[in-house]
Amino acid sequence: GWLGGPPLFHQERGHPRLRMRHAPFAVSIVERDEWMLCMRQAINEQVDDAALNAKLQRMFSEMADHMINTDGSRAGVAAPL
Ligand code: HEM
Repeated sequence: GWLGGPPLFHQERGHPRLRMRHAPFAVSIVERDEWMLCMRQAINEQVDDAALNAKLQRMFSEMADHMINTDGSRAGVAAPL
């Protein structure tokens, strides 16, 4: 559903509440970048189609930005916003 298909997850399980689920963990720019490094590598290993690869990189990158829950300046030590 998140990538444009039918909203099946939403219908069966409701809003995923990803930011809330990540609230116990401090996520700054550093964690986002490390997470995206792994995700980018996984997508590049698995997705040969250039258009789909680019779309997945963009969508995950935007969601990883959205997961930042500190002031973003330092890893794991900043106070939550
Ligand atoms: C597209 C972005 C992301 C998605 C879709 C995603 C998805 C998820 C999901 C589904 C869970 C399990 C939540 C639960 O059990 O309630 C989770 C846990 C977690 N995520 Fe993410 N996440 C994303 C980005 C990030 C980023 C940027 C970080 C920063 C390092 C992060 C760190 C964690 C940690 C530490 C956990 C807990 C793992 C554990 O319980 O052992 N996530 N994530």
